[in-house]
Amino acid sequence: MIAIGSDHVGYEYKEKLIQFLLKNGKPAVDFGCFSNERTDYPIYGLKVADAVASKTISRGILICGTGVGMSLAANQIRGIRAVVCSDPYTAKLSREHNDTNILALGSRVIGLELAEMIILNWLDVPFQSMRHQERIQIFEAARN
Ligand code: RB5
Repeated sequence: MIAIGSDHVGYEYKEKLIQFLLKNGKPAVDFGCFSNERTDYPIYGLKVADAVASKTISRGILICGTGVGMSLAANQIRGIRAVVCSDPYTAKLSREHNDTNILALGSRVIGLELAEMIILNWLDVPFQSMRHQERIQIFEAARN
């Protein structure tokens, strides 16, 4: 199961990605927002991050205008490694090397088809633990 969330800028994009995920056999739990009405991205970024950090859901996808605000909000939560990503290569390597558990996308930055390709290069890619795990532990230990 995947948690998904957006602000008002990413709302319609989120709705389309929910359909895309469903078609690919990956149902998403929608944490909002639920309309185009102006709102604040950290509300949804933190909701999805909390769900992933508590391990009730394994991965999250967040959408705002650039993906930057959402990634910053989500990365405040211990255990979250959110990547803002605009290309499939970074998406794949962020799984293999960084064990990212949240993908942040910018609806004003990348088209929907590219977002779908990025998602496919992120969702099912396993973490290559070994030396990468030690590196993650180094920065996780520095968190407040
Ligand atoms: C909202 O205008 C915009 O700031 C937000 O969608 C996002 O891009 C923030 O990083």
